[in-house]
Amino acid sequence: MKKITVSTLLKMKAEQEKIAAITAYDASFAKLFDEQNIDVILIGDSLGMVLKGEEDTLGVSVDELAYHTKSVRNGAQRAFVIADMPFMSYASPEQSYQNAATLMRAGASMVKVEGGEWLLDTISGLVERSVPVCGHLGLTPQSVNVFGGFKVQGREQSQADALLESAIALEKAGIQLLVLECVPAALAKRVTQSVSIPVIGIGAGVDTDGQILVMHDMLGISANYMPKFSKDFLAQTGDIRQAVATYIEDVKARNFPTEAHWFN
Ligand code: KIV
Repeated sequence: MKKITVSTLLKMKAEQEKIAAITAYDASFAKLFDEQNIDVILIGDSLGMVLKGEEDTLGVSVDELAYHTKSVRNGAQRAFVIADMPFMSYASPEQSYQNAATLMRAGASMVKVEGGEWLLDTISGLVERSVPVCGHLGLTPQSVNVFGGFKVQGREQSQADALLESAIALEKAGIQLLVLECVPAALAKRVTQSVSIPVIGIGAGVDTDGQILVMHDMLGISANYMPKFSKDFLAQTGDIRQAVATYIEDVKARNFPTEAHWFN
């Protein structure tokens, strides 16, 4: 068993092998996903919605993220483990250093932050202090109140150009991975081809370097809402392990997502 690292993910992009990623919040699911050879596990602040039943991700704390990160780390042997930095936990660079340290000590191998140019100093500061960083652009759920809802981003040409510029600036600042959420498939393709780091999409078409889904959506058990970009693999297979294996196979073979799951 070879542990996945940032170098593995970079090599996968270079060799055009798709990266299969999923969220998890506890040791049992992390172990199950790991045993099916998932490449990346994210302890997402989506836990506010799928575990706590809240309307958005804003109520999640660093302590909650650290608790779930420790649980996932205890279950995952092979997968690359990323922890989300919750809302307002990286409002300043200094604050981000303390909170990233908590998440890294809990077992994360990378932290994820949402946003563009305003984060450049924070990202370079974290990287200088040996914290690997994943960016997140497009529909960044912590900004739901600014967007006026969970809406597709980057449909206007000016917005699309700005998003591409942000991706390039974030890469320059030091991110080693980028999540692109709910953007038109053509824009996601353009971004993926314009940066040298791996881009993981969710609701961003089939041409990103990999895909991520919230585990409850992938199993069709989310409490409130099933997004258009997700797919219930459990309904198709009737078995959790088989559902995960099929998700991974479909991502690798470019059979997921299909046009029904992306935006134009
Ligand atoms: O919080 C989360 O689960 C995420 C994914 C949707 C990428 O950020």
